[in-house]
Amino acid sequence: MTKSKHVAAAILALSLTTAAQSQEMTVGFSQIGSESGWRAAETTVTKQEAEKRGVTLKFSDAQQKQENQIKAIRSFIAQDVDAIFMAPVVATGWDSVLKEAKEAEIPVVLLDRTIETSDDSLYLTAVGSDTVHEGKVAGDWLVKDVGDKPCNVVELQGTVGSSPAINRRKGFEDALKGHDNVKITRSQTGDFVRAKGKEVMESFIKAEDGGKNICAVYAHNDDMAVGAIQAIKDAGLKPGTDIKVVSIDGVPDIFKAQIAGESNASVELTPNMAGPAFEALAAFKEKGTVPPKFIQTESKLLLPETAAAEYEAKKDLGY
Ligand code: AHR
Repeated sequence: MTKSKHVAAAILALSLTTAAQSQEMTVGFSQIGSESGWRAAETTVTKQEAEKRGVTLKFSDAQQKQENQIKAIRSFIAQDVDAIFMAPVVATGWDSVLKEAKEAEIPVVLLDRTIETSDDSLYLTAVGSDTVHEGKVAGDWLVKDVGDKPCNVVELQGTVGSSPAINRRKGFEDALKGHDNVKITRSQTGDFVRAKGKEVMESFIKAEDGGKNICAVYAHNDDMAVGAIQAIKDAGLKPGTDIKVVSIDGVPDIFKAQIAGESNASVELTPNMAGPAFEALAAFKEKGTVPPKFIQTESKLLLPETAAAEYEAKKDLGY
């Protein structure tokens, strides 16, 4: 055999081994639930990314309960999966179950939400956006938009105790520092759910003179913003004009609202956390490459000018 044929044979053998390895890989995915359009898209994309790579994905929906996630992880460990992906519903309370995964030598990858732990060897890596930065991008936009005018902001928070709810609040507050004309006057959780966002916004409007004392609503996700938009309309006000609307995710429904002039700004959160997660996992399993502890995705500001193009690009992604 000539030298070049040897090289070609070696490359073929290596790629067959790699394909076989990923074909044999089984990954357990503990998903939070389906509270938002963004979450539904993350589930769809994770399944697609697994299929593309020939990975068998065992999917478990925790219906918003940490105890269900803990059960799912224990069940994945008992089934001796090759790795576990987990989107943790809240930030604390994971150490014991993650120690069990570590003892079983099953790497755990966190998707889109982070955890609080004193031992970061309990997970291989976390793929997600910088959620403090997301809140800052939203707050910076509002501060710039209102200029020197007074602006009372009502806040729809995400799930209590979840990393994005904690961090998006913090980032937004950071942006407001030094801008005393812009203040958060009311804040309550809407649990990242559209119907709850509407309900809480209705109560804010009622408490604030039919909405007259509200300048803007900051929602920790687009679904709650869409619920708030409906509440504003039901109160006879114009969302986007009488009350500004700023939120996070970049889902197709918020682009529709932007096109209609009812949402002013959103911040991008890609639903494709699984792509980078599978890449990191493959490099770790096949070459022993240890990934960084945090693999960051982009958080760009999304304004009405680009809403039509964003809507076209995202409308068929499973939201
Ligand atoms: O963790 C990401 C957040 O969870 C998304 O912003 C929200 O829509 C989801 O449910």
